[in-house]
Amino acid sequence: MDRDRQRSFDERSLVDLPCFSPPVSSRADNISRIDHFDSLPFSPAHRSGFDTPRSFGHEGSPMMAEAWDALRRTLVYFRGKPVGTIAALDSSEEKLNYDQVFVRDFVPSALAFLMNGEPEIVKNFLLKTLRLQSWEKKIDRFQLAEGVMPASFKVLHDPVRNTETLMADFGESAIGRVAPIDSGFWWIILLRAYTKSTGDTSLADKPECQKGMRLILSLCLSEGFDTFPTLLCADGCCMIDRRMGVYGYPIEIQALFFMALRCALVLLKQDAEGKEFVERIVKRLHALSYHMRSYFWLDLKQLNDIYRYKTEEYSHTAVNKFNVIPDSLPEWIFDFMPTHGGYFIGNVGPSKMDFRWFCLGNCIAILASLATPEQSNAIMDLIESRWEELVGEMPLKVCYPAIESHEWRIVTGCDPKNTRWSYHNGGSWPVLLWLLTAACIKTGRPHIAKRAIELIELRLARDSWPEYYDGKVGRYIGKQARKQQTWSIAGYLVSRMMLEDPSHLGMIALEEDKQMRPPLRRSASWTF
Ligand code: GLC
Repeated sequence: MDRDRQRSFDERSLVDLPCFSPPVSSRADNISRIDHFDSLPFSPAHRSGFDTPRSFGHEGSPMMAEAWDALRRTLVYFRGKPVGTIAALDSSEEKLNYDQVFVRDFVPSALAFLMNGEPEIVKNFLLKTLRLQSWEKKIDRFQLAEGVMPASFKVLHDPVRNTETLMADFGESAIGRVAPIDSGFWWIILLRAYTKSTGDTSLADKPECQKGMRLILSLCLSEGFDTFPTLLCADGCCMIDRRMGVYGYPIEIQALFFMALRCALVLLKQDAEGKEFVERIVKRLHALSYHMRSYFWLDLKQLNDIYRYKTEEYSHTAVNKFNVIPDSLPEWIFDFMPTHGGYFIGNVGPSKMDFRWFCLGNCIAILASLATPEQSNAIMDLIESRWEELVGEMPLKVCYPAIESHEWRIVTGCDPKNTRWSYHNGGSWPVLLWLLTAACIKTGRPHIAKRAIELIELRLARDSWPEYYDGKVGRYIGKQARKQQTWSIAGYLVSRMMLEDPSHLGMIALEEDKQMRPPLRRSASWTF
């Protein structure tokens, strides 16, 4: 790789880019600034075998050893090469699509392998899914966009002909025919994690990887009728892949979108084709960070302002820009909001604020530095003060609170899998532990992660690594939870490895780009 590309991978920042021209001095400062995470030491130990876990001092921990064994059993091979891990190894329940390799589920597995110095499987996965992206995708007579990445794939063995073929699902077979908007974003994020951890830029530099990224970006940067820089989504387009009222502008997708854009910025070549994308990304990042930090952010002051909002304001001077009706504020939010703390709410649209807490979106916001350092700290404050609600006996609530009764009927369409405090509707998902741990390390509060890990260690292995837990504090193994759920296993491994060696954080975290700091908002003086 030439030196310029190396520099741009490590240091490319918004100010380096053509459509953003700060004063000469700050440009120079920025070029000389080495990204804090990019300077953390990594020792990419390339290993070829898949049977001997590299030691991180976990020989002493039977649970870590068990988790590694369990993770290795989930490996899926295609023509002799490992290409992913299946979602769950539970044969007691109906398989549905849990015998497939899900893109989002593979992320913690990939991080575990990268942290253990085994990058080959990640590379194979990235290349294989890229090939799937180029497939022609159709639902009935409708053709999907070129850039769409699959939700999941499977290797089919033909014992008679002794051949193996791949089968992918882009949403056309999924329950509810949901669109996996997050897959493309995770793919880009994983490509950066691979590049960062191995120092091997040749994969990202491949013409097919550059093209794959551009196709994903074309999809989400395309112009339309939108008045917001956030990405308009259908319900069930992310980890919560069923009808749960997450349509519109869900936080999970906005945070992943932001992170993927920032990763693409360092991975894209500034050649004839890449340059235009780089410029569009920079513009979008500015608008997106401003929008998210201003309108999705909620703390006590902001809540009080909304409570006192006037409605029906017209023109540019409107304070209540989205015409949110104060009567739509749910009762629970007034008690839930701590004096110190805040978070990005679930969704913001015309006359709509979904005040629910969603764990994944908030953790990714911290990791991608979509949240300012003050906001990141406030999110951690909130987690600490609402520990009982958000962590309880089993980390962590996918969202809070659950929706019930009439609201559940209307919002989920009477979904029996998503009854209150179960599954996506306020269930507790062990996989989220790795995201919490990463966010804790980034904000300098590893003790919070340690507390959560202690809780997980009490039960997770004993309960055979369930997919999720039910109940207000997560005391019960989920109604329809799979056992031996791979991302519960991998999430635990990643958390432990990150705590033992915090330099791993660099794979999955991005430092704040100071050029994106918004002007101080009024509420800042209250909370921080
Ligand atoms: C469930 C989850 C989804 C996950 C899949 C496979 O559908 O909601 O996020 O990818 O199971 O584990």
